[in-house]
Amino acid sequence: MKHLDIKIVRENKDYTGKEVTVCGWVRTARDSKNMAFFELNDGTSLSHIQVVIDKSVLTVDDEALKLGASVKVVGMAVEGRNGANEINATEVTLLGKSPADYPLQKKRHSLEFLRTMPHLRVRTNIFNAVLRVRSVMADSIHTYFQKNNYVYINSPLLTGSDCEGAGETFTVTTIGYSDKYKNSEEYYADDFFGKHASLSVSGQLEGEVAAMAMGKIYTFGPSFRAENSNTPRHVAEFWHVEPEVAFAELPDIIEIAEDMIKYVVKDVLEKCSEEINFFNERIPENNKGLIDKLNNLINNDFAVLDYTDAVELLQKSGKKFQYPVYWGADLQTEHERYITEEVFNKPVFITNYPKDIKSFYMKQNPDGKTVAATDLLVPGVGEIIGCSEREADYDKLLQAMKDRNMNIEEYTDYIDLRKYGSVPHSGFGLGFERILMYVTGMTNIRDVILYPRTVGSIR
Ligand code: 4AD
Repeated sequence: MKHLDIKIVRENKDYTGKEVTVCGWVRTARDSKNMAFFELNDGTSLSHIQVVIDKSVLTVDDEALKLGASVKVVGMAVEGRNGANEINATEVTLLGKSPADYPLQKKRHSLEFLRTMPHLRVRTNIFNAVLRVRSVMADSIHTYFQKNNYVYINSPLLTGSDCEGAGETFTVTTIGYSDKYKNSEEYYADDFFGKHASLSVSGQLEGEVAAMAMGKIYTFGPSFRAENSNTPRHVAEFWHVEPEVAFAELPDIIEIAEDMIKYVVKDVLEKCSEEINFFNERIPENNKGLIDKLNNLINNDFAVLDYTDAVELLQKSGKKFQYPVYWGADLQTEHERYITEEVFNKPVFITNYPKDIKSFYMKQNPDGKTVAATDLLVPGVGEIIGCSEREADYDKLLQAMKDRNMNIEEYTDYIDLRKYGSVPHSGFGLGFERILMYVTGMTNIRDVILYPRTVGSIR
């Protein structure tokens, strides 16, 4: 169907005074005795285009003025009162009716209500804005790495090993319920891969393989976690950005992470100014000052705080936390919020965590107690990046795996990397939905992804 993007017709003055054809869904409609007006959106911009119908010259099917109906409009583009082009229609063709039970009849619905209809909420302004920011940000991430000579790697999604070693994986099987097997070993031996397989929680282990030849690589794809965490920050299927850099130590990867985040946020601010303005004004209290927050991020250094200092700071805060703070404890959301929101009010890298609360692959520090790891925490969201220098020493890595009773046989490729030309190297994992939450100010991860998958909920 030959037609133009609404964004182009609205914004491009070359079309003013010319005949144009656009297609879209009716987002608002007003009908009076002599005139009718409706606004059309085709997803190419957050703003709708206004269509004006002079009833003395054009008869329009009533169904074309119903919210949610799809239509094709031919008419003259003319400059409207707000400076953008609108269309004086000469022809309106109804493509698809939208009966009275179309659920999006009100101007604004709650996000909770919209979550019950993921297939329709995409037609609201807020999801129009979220999905475009998401798309632009994905492009910015690729551009950042490509410009800096990283190689994009597609790591496998089906895996025989659990990268984080936390056992929070989704098993992949083709057999399903059966009483034919005596035990799980027999079951999996008979299964598709001849052994237990799952969906990958992280592309890191394979990313390291690629980095040991390609130097600087990144992956950008889905990761799957069967965590029983029903929080506004967890989904079972999230998109994961994972660079892996040979010859980089912890301070180098911290610099890269900060540089990348700043590049991406700046790019989104420039390319999605309309959407960011919309988030700044339209979503609740927490968003007052969204643009200031993002500009502050771009223009200031992130803080770096040693875990041991963070514990001391929390202990001296005088705050009553629900979870106790002591050296060796994992930081909880309340602790992270205090540090990023009340103390620093900007992104903070917490470094050198106790080795017992972190993964086997992290480089062990000379103190024997901590690892060269960091989490990047941001106000409002908490952790958006998990990062570390990797243990490059064969014996130390093997020992760390043995200490955790890991099945060494499943990790022979990974261990071999420490045998043949091992180098210091580091990497991180950025949760794509988490940074989207930060940039848009959306407070629930379910609202920055098309179809959220969470505990007890899939459709
Ligand atoms: O800290 P994590 O578990 O680190 C790893 O997976 C490393 N293998 C990454 C690496 O070094 N290559 O996860 C990294 C990030 C978290 O900081 C968070 O932003 C995101 O992934 N994440 C989730 N996002 C949404 N829902 C979940 N259930 C998430 N789990 C982790």
